[in-house]
Amino acid sequence: MINNLIRKKLVNLMPYACARDLYSEGMFLDANENSFGSTVKIPYRNELNRYPDPYCLDLKKAILKYLNLPFLKLENIFVGSGSDEIIRLLINLFSNTDDEIIINEPTYGMYRVAADICGVGVKVVGLDDNFQLDVKELKQKITSNTKLVFCCSPNNPTGSLLRVEDIVDLCNVFKGFLVLDEAYVEFSSSGSMVGLLEKCSNLLILRTFSKAWGLAGLRIGYMIGNEEVVAYLNKIKLPYNVNSLSQSLGVRALENVKIMNEVISRILDERRWLEVELRKLGLEVFPSETNFLMVKVEGSGSDDLAKRIVKYLAEDEGIIVRDFSSKLGLKNCFRITVGTPKQNKLLIQSLTSIL
Ligand SMILES: Cc1ncc(COP(=O)(O)O)c(C=O)c1O
Repeated sequence: MINNLIRKKLVNLMPYACARDLYSEGMFLDANENSFGSTVKIPYRNELNRYPDPYCLDLKKAILKYLNLPFLKLENIFVGSGSDEIIRLLINLFSNTDDEIIINEPTYGMYRVAADICGVGVKVVGLDDNFQLDVKELKQKITSNTKLVFCCSPNNPTGSLLRVEDIVDLCNVFKGFLVLDEAYVEFSSSGSMVGLLEKCSNLLILRTFSKAWGLAGLRIGYMIGNEEVVAYLNKIKLPYNVNSLSQSLGVRALENVKIMNEVISRILDERRWLEVELRKLGLEVFPSETNFLMVKVEGSGSDDLAKRIVKYLAEDEGIIVRDFSSKLGLKNCFRITVGTPKQNKLLIQSLTSIL
């Protein structure tokens, strides 16, 4: 029972009823769709005049098959317009105005932004020197007003993995929900923690089609976890949050896991090459389990060198990387997304010319 955890005003919310919630078969003259069809014909989907499936059933079935874990059911999956939508919905679902979330910095910026938009407090716990959770401090900071703790593994922007034991330990003591964002997990050597869901009923795992699947433009993310949470998310989401094309193309992508694995292996080859070349230039490169590298400009003596490099690359070379030097624990650091072989060579040439 999660009724005592979610926002008080939402417990008895009467959700919007989609036309297909009322009748799913027959001659549809109930949703003010265009009965003459769509004005654009495209492959994969010929019924664009109809509203999309509000619950993404075909896509959820394909996701379940891909995850291949017998203890999971369709009711354990929620699909959103990117995992960003799900982050926002979760904060919206759980947090009364006097509640708070905990984030482990440095981490993905949207957790804080979503909390700020929803008017919810944010407590920050710093990752330790190895970018691991500070479990002791987390436990101290959790109060009865802490509804959600956000963890990210592999973490953006550090590229590092969190320890499984720490996640289990936290789930065991925490009375709220631990959201584990695995946006980059397909790139990692250790694999997903989704198997923990069998034991940890307060763990919610976020995944996305935006990274390894190369489908950021479709905006598809999904959450795997507690079915009561999924049911509540279904009540508070926009009725048709994931469009028909994205749903169909998501299914198509999942039919071809091999293609994704091939792309991952090319990205990992490039990451290894880039890592070596960056080190040759005297840069410190943090170990990465993702499709990006966090790089530190060492022994510079000057605090704004990373910033200046990022600015030079953008303005003089047209190469855009991201400055993180002002973030907790990331002094003198910037982040590079692994590019194609040609892009990576250009980046190394440009860096060579300035360093
Ligand atoms: C850790 C992490 N989670 C979630 C997202 C957002 O993913 P989506 O495109 O599915 O909204 C990102 C995007 O950069 C990310 O880095």
